[in-house]
Amino acid sequence: MNQMPDITIQEQLEKMRRDWDARARENARHYVESSRTEWSDEEFFKSGECTVAGEILTDMINICQGLLPQQMKVLEIGCGAGRVTRALARLFGEVYAVDVSAEMIEQARHNLQGLSNVHLCVNNGMDLSPLPPIQFDFAFSSIVFQHIPSYEVIESYVREVHRLLRPGALFKFQVQGGLSEHSLPDDTWVGVSYTDEQAVALAERCGFEPRYRVGAGEQYFWLWFFKRP
Ligand SMILES: C[S@@+](CC[C@H](N)C(=O)[O-])C[C@H]1O[C@@H](n2cnc3c(N)ncnc32)[C@H](O)[C@@H]1O
Repeated sequence: MNQMPDITIQEQLEKMRRDWDARARENARHYVESSRTEWSDEEFFKSGECTVAGEILTDMINICQGLLPQQMKVLEIGCGAGRVTRALARLFGEVYAVDVSAEMIEQARHNLQGLSNVHLCVNNGMDLSPLPPIQFDFAFSSIVFQHIPSYEVIESYVREVHRLLRPGALFKFQVQGGLSEHSLPDDTWVGVSYTDEQAVALAERCGFEPRYRVGAGEQYFWLWFFKRP
């Protein structure tokens, strides 16, 4: 879908890794949260707590479904330097987080050292094969898929999350919902865009119920995909 023939998916994945590694080396915190160039430790991790307060603490009924947060195993895709991961680890029992960039993961390891319930790993940019075969109770991804220039890669992640989620559990994530005319297959900053109809079709193809969708037509298009029992 929407892929130009002159770049393979493998080349796209390599480009994602290369570009994000370079961004991490240049100024990881800025590329992770671009509203500032310089971030102190305190402000950077406070912004991650704000993400959790806004997207998770307000939504605990859908997320926990009767479980205690401390009992839950949570997956984060595209953790970057651990900004949100740290706040997730304060709330939930175990947090597994992946990122395509080894440089980002290295920074996350440094930032999250001492948190024994955080498990970080580099992945290939489209599947979750490095993770152990455990069942997750919740999966989350924020400001990651909006940068992915491939419908195939995003669909691969949705199928992978389906493979690892407990039946009935929620995958809450954000995609680009604004105009996609600037998305090119080798651009790892502006990702492909979804209409509401495309998001619903994606969920149905991958075994999810797309129960809530907020922000269609906007950059921050949030999706609540519940794994069909
Ligand atoms: C804007 S940062 C956001 C990081 C984190 N989610 C946060 O909110 O702090 C985007 C992150 O997604 C990662 N990323 C980009 N494409 C990816 C892919 N295909 N698979 C996994 N991670 C990816 C980047 O390496 C980067 O760390």
